Amino acid sequence: MLRMTEQTHMPKIFVTRKFADSGIKALKAKGYKIEVYAEDKIIPRKTLLEKAKGCDALLPLLTDKIDDGVFDAAGPQLKIVANYAVGFDNVDLAAAKKRGIVVTNTPSDKVNEAVAEHTFALMLALARRIPEADRFAKAKKYAGWSPTLLTGTDLYGKTLGIVGAGRIGSAVAQRAVGGFGMKLIYSDMRQNVDLERKFKAEYMSMEKLLQTADFVSLHVPLLPSTRHLISTAEFSMMKKTAFLVNTARGPVVDEKALLRALRTKRIAGAGIDVFECEPAIDCDMTDTLELKTYDNVILTPHIASATIEAREAMGMVAAENIIAVLEGKEPLNPAK
Ligand code: GLV
Ligand code: GLV
Repeated sequence: MLRMTEQTHMPKIFVTRKFADSGIKALKAKGYKIEVYAEDKIIPRKTLLEKAKGCDALLPLLTDKIDDGVFDAAGPQLKIVANYAVGFDNVDLAAAKKRGIVVTNTPSDKVNEAVAEHTFALMLALARRIPEADRFAKAKKYAGWSPTLLTGTDLYGKTLGIVGAGRIGSAVAQRAVGGFGMKLIYSDMRQNVDLERKFKAEYMSMEKLLQTADFVSLHVPLLPSTRHLISTAEFSMMKKTAFLVNTARGPVVDEKALLRALRTKRIAGAGIDVFECEPAIDCDMTDTLELKTYDNVILTPHIASATIEAREAMGMVAAENIIAVLEGKEPLNPAK
């Protein structure tokens, strides 16, 4: 009798937003009942709670808050939350653990490469003033070659300070040293001997890194210990000629302190892909958007992993984690 029930129960999965096909196909191939939220927008909380009901697996995005409210709405059969993101600060891990719900994320070489490339896109765009130059050329302001027109700075020979030397930080390190001839320094909770051996990276305190780096690039997860990791004191340690790049999580940088640093020219500029009050670009939500007023600030709307290759990989990794857990196996990428 029990066996029959097991055979007839088809696990139910809810996906909070459409994404690249193959992950969904892999889940469908297993015969699971899958529902994907029909609208291409962030799912309203109320709808998420309704849709979660009776699910064995949830596949949410980093824009969905997954907490006790969702777990209660889903019911005790919920086994896994496969977050479609590398970061998982949107999921209450402690609450999931208490209920024995597995939480997974989507790390992948493809994502590491995509984020590392975007980090360099921002660094190069800042150093070589690409958006400004683009606007200049399109405005037909170009009146002939000039020795001083839109001069920027080299990456070559400069020191890159990586804050957080995990998978993505290491992919950035590889490009910095192998591709651009930069010197590498890093700070992290743990020493990364592999990084030191491969890229002659030098391990140092955050303070020393901020004092030394020409480019500071953030690659830490958002945790209570990394919230406002870069604030007034940190900006005051940076070189006036240094650039800050954030492709990690917005709240790792204190936005108010960043604005003060820009106003007072404490730093040379910033490349920002993630924002403290997302989806707002500025916490004040004023029409003025002060960040917009700086030529030495480049903004992108949380797109560091937005390549077809990376998004495809994220979908597959999320699907593989769901399949593993629903088949009673260990998850491939437990979030911890
Ligand atoms: C994107 O920010 C991610 O965490 O995958
Ligand atoms: C620039 O175009 C140069 O020839 O130096």
